[in-house]
Amino acid sequence: MEQVIPLRKKRIGFLASGRGSNFQAVIDAIAAGEIPGIGVGLITDNPRAYAIERARNAGIPVRVIDYAEFPSKAVYEEELLAAMRDFQADLFVLAGYMRILGQEIVREFSGRMMNIHPALLPAFPGLHAQRQAVDYGVKVAGCTVHLVDDGTDTGPIIIQRCVPVLQDDDETTLADRILAEEHSVLPLAVKLFCEDRLVLEGRRVRIRP
Ligand code: GRF
Repeated sequence: MEQVIPLRKKRIGFLASGRGSNFQAVIDAIAAGEIPGIGVGLITDNPRAYAIERARNAGIPVRVIDYAEFPSKAVYEEELLAAMRDFQADLFVLAGYMRILGQEIVREFSGRMMNIHPALLPAFPGLHAQRQAVDYGVKVAGCTVHLVDDGTDTGPIIIQRCVPVLQDDDETTLADRILAEEHSVLPLAVKLFCEDRLVLEGRRVRIRP
């Protein structure tokens, strides 16, 4: 008889800078038993981030590393790296983390750090992706979950979802439509990671059935 070995639950750490609705979507999916993982902690660079409330409500430890209190990005990132190591996480999820991570952190967590971006990469990387899409006049927009490499939104793509851009859309209406997709696609990508189903081949991510 075939023996089924249960998966060890993956330890998942989060970085978020603001509202935290994507963070919420992932922790809800963990709580619902859809992801074989444990949320081990949230790190934020912003003491006013609403994500902090969400973490506390879910009983997830929070580390606030207030960027404004550091003399330089390098010193801030030393503290950030130390906090990330403390979590002993298998995976880090950037859920609306609004800073570019330095090379040391990117290298240390290579292949086990993912980001959600509100555009169909490689189109519209960086800030205000939804506004860029509206201004450019594209007819289809969407979101991308990707592994983090040392470029800005350039890492290997795990999953993408698209939405139509409607005639009268502005940045806000398009962002809302994309956000609804983000909330399903990010938990799915985390689930696939936790099930050991993501295989990196060059810069292509294969999803094991
Ligand atoms: C999302 O649109 C995400 O794609 C981008 O920042 C936004 C964060 O929203 N990286 P939230 O904090 O998850 O609500």
